[in-house]
Amino acid sequence: MSKGFEVPDKVIYVCTGSKCKKKGGKEIGKMLRNMIKDMGLKGKVEVVKTECTDRCDFAPVMSFQPDNVWLQHTTEEKAKQAFNDHILKTDGQV
Ligand code: FES
Repeated sequence: MSKGFEVPDKVIYVCTGSKCKKKGGKEIGKMLRNMIKDMGLKGKVEVVKTECTDRCDFAPVMSFQPDNVWLQHTTEEKAKQAFNDHILKTDGQV
């Protein structure tokens, strides 16, 4: 039996096209996925891998929805900061 069609509250789209993947996007996506798991946010927040988003000069690229915040030349630090600001918000609530 397949899973029901459940939709998370927030989504982080991580580009895993070849350029972003090579520049560490895949590992950062993995880190975010682990953070979601560790914080018990599975089901509420989801990491979705995407194909190339046509912004390869700015790799690795990812976006945080629904705030529509896009990161370029993403580092682990930048991704953690965006996670705090746009997923957890200041009150720690999703
Ligand atoms: S591979 Fe990520 S923008 Fe092209």
